[in-house]
Amino acid sequence: MKPLSNNPLVLDDPERGIFKVHRLAFTSQEIFDLEREYIFGQCWLYLGHESEIPSPGDYVRRWIGGRPLFMVRDEDGQIRVFYNTCTHRGALVCRRDKGNAKVFQCFYHAWTFDTKGRLIGVPKEERFGPGFAKEELGLRSPRVGTYRGFVFVNFSTNPPPLEAYLAGAKEVLDLVADQAEEGMVVLEGSHRYAIRANWKLMVENSVDSYHLVPTHQTYFEFLDYLAQTRGAPQGKTGKKLERPERVVALGNGHVVLEAPAVGGRPVADYHPLLGGEEIRREIEEVKARTLARLGEERGRRVTEMGRNFIYFPNLIIVDTRATNLRIVEPIAPGETAILQFQLVPKEEFGTLRFERRMHSYLSFFGPGGLATPDDVEAVESCQAGFAAGEVEYNDLSLGYAKEDSGVTELPMRVFWRQWHALIQGKPAPTSWEDPIAAR
Ligand code: FES
Repeated sequence: MKPLSNNPLVLDDPERGIFKVHRLAFTSQEIFDLEREYIFGQCWLYLGHESEIPSPGDYVRRWIGGRPLFMVRDEDGQIRVFYNTCTHRGALVCRRDKGNAKVFQCFYHAWTFDTKGRLIGVPKEERFGPGFAKEELGLRSPRVGTYRGFVFVNFSTNPPPLEAYLAGAKEVLDLVADQAEEGMVVLEGSHRYAIRANWKLMVENSVDSYHLVPTHQTYFEFLDYLAQTRGAPQGKTGKKLERPERVVALGNGHVVLEAPAVGGRPVADYHPLLGGEEIRREIEEVKARTLARLGEERGRRVTEMGRNFIYFPNLIIVDTRATNLRIVEPIAPGETAILQFQLVPKEEFGTLRFERRMHSYLSFFGPGGLATPDDVEAVESCQAGFAAGEVEYNDLSLGYAKEDSGVTELPMRVFWRQWHALIQGKPAPTSWEDPIAAR
């Protein structure tokens, strides 16, 4: 790759404990095109969850890595993913975001495909010549892999096995999936929003505990207000966020930030201390069942710890007060689409799901929430600031090589080390942690 700048895109200096990212990484069309080729064209990408299509004929439509796709459960119950393009002359075959269908008929000239992707209907078929081979004109598929209900696709010709690519991310997906007795399912409905900012700013934001108190002041004031009105113990809720954090590089750029949950696990609520006797009892009941099922150590990790997880490159799971999945879809260097879902225990109903969890989700992550709109404002503000020129690099040096559990930008450095190798067409690094300088 020819240099886009005389200076490196990522500056990683263990001697001085300095880590910087060139702002071209957020603004350059050339880099965006390289990402499409070397990252989104090579990595296993998150597509969706099996629970979104429980019955034969159920389908969902997505854009992933710049490509139109749809996922369908075929008539035999198998999950299939197709490129959403008619093999005749290209039109999108699946034109709704979700639904149930026995067949997919292209609206342009009415070629018809079954749920296994086979071409089963061609109007005026007798007008085609002897070389017309219907059996060769079925819908095309990327490579598909699943792990614990999470469905991934890969567009390259010779990808590594999904489980090898997931590496340590499997453990995080296990912790998410193990919250439920009968399995986790995606809740009906989604939030879709567009951001005028580069996709990597949103990824950074999702594992950035440094911004929580300054950016989300309104949310913490809201929690303090709830505490007062519910007669809970007094104290500034934002203060409680000064808690130990554990960052684990999981391989291949995946990373998790784990910390004691302040947001009411295992039953989501604004805060477990705010809900009075009833919610405390509910929390204890769910927790006791989880510990009995998973054992003391794993049970406590599931019920007491929250986690912010980046699956490199396109999935974010914020598994704190609710379990929030975000699919990140780059549209242009300064434009990103986010598709957001909630993952919930299948067995959870009643007030737990519809009052505690939904209220908590909507008040924090939702479009009218007190947190996500602030995050969008923050990342759009960064993107706008890049237009100033002059400043060449962003600084992500906080906590470099510090082995304590204080606030750190290490999760972002893990992500960027993978990004930097791949964008240059190099193999993934073998280590993503901060290198300790020889002294
Ligand atoms: Fe689909 Fe012609 S483009 S039938």
